[in-house]
Amino acid sequence: MKIILLGPPGAGKGTQAKIITGKFAIPQISTGDILRKAVKDQTEMGKRAKSFMDSGGLVPDEVVIGIINERITEPDCSKGYILDGFPRTLIQAEALTEALTALGGDIDFVIDLKADAETLSRRLSGRRVCRECGQMFHVEFNPSKIDGKCDKCGGELYQRDDDKEETVLKRFEVYDTQARALESYYSTSGRYKPVDGNASMEDVSQKVLDILGG
Ligand code: AP5
Ligand code: MG
Ligand code: ZN
Repeated sequence: MKIILLGPPGAGKGTQAKIITGKFAIPQISTGDILRKAVKDQTEMGKRAKSFMDSGGLVPDEVVIGIINERITEPDCSKGYILDGFPRTLIQAEALTEALTALGGDIDFVIDLKADAETLSRRLSGRRVCRECGQMFHVEFNPSKIDGKCDKCGGELYQRDDDKEETVLKRFEVYDTQARALESYYSTSGRYKPVDGNASMEDVSQKVLDILGG
């Protein structure tokens, strides 16, 4: 099963992707996570991506398209995957369709997590992420058992650099300029499923799993 998760910053793409991964045993492919790791490891790609990410803008299409084209052909993707944060532009969506056609497949579900601005701001300002395993927590909605430490692996929790208020505003703006084009690209087919992402984590994941037939 191949799934795309669309939605603004803080909508819960990563959170829901991790739940789906657990249920269906297919990998989560987050371009944001892959890019953050490249920045941390100071690879050539990371050095190129850093300034775009720090400013809340998009990394150039050819960089992320290259990441995805390579990643989806790895062995663990043979039964499907969840794309979290890709595609983000029409060019990326078209490149994905092209790559999938060449591989003889297509996307099964496009889940668009919708949430209002107030929800998104609260989620981003309180988000904490594990430095070691990438698990997300939230100081208010999903706190870790020990302050500052990951429940899963004991790693240190940190706040993402781009979760600062001024960068968040830019990320929302960037999202809004691309969202409609993506929605109209996918909404012509029955696989496009908007989901109200304002509800609790459990309620949102129930809706998502109902769609996926889990
Ligand atoms: P990326 O890492 O993808 O960031 P994003 O799209 O801004 O989304 P987030 O990860 O911030 O939010 P999320 O929807 O995953 O929410 P989460 O589940 O964590 O991209 C970062 C940057 O990389 C981009 O700005 C860009 O520069 C670059 N990039 C990435 N992909 C690219 C692409 N394709 N093209 C070009 N550039 C690209 O949840 C948020 C918080 O809320 C958490 O604390 C969580 O615990 C909590 N929470 C989640 N759901 C709920 C709920 N239902 N109720 C209460 N709390 C909840
Ligand atoms: Mg995410
Ligand atoms: Zn951890």
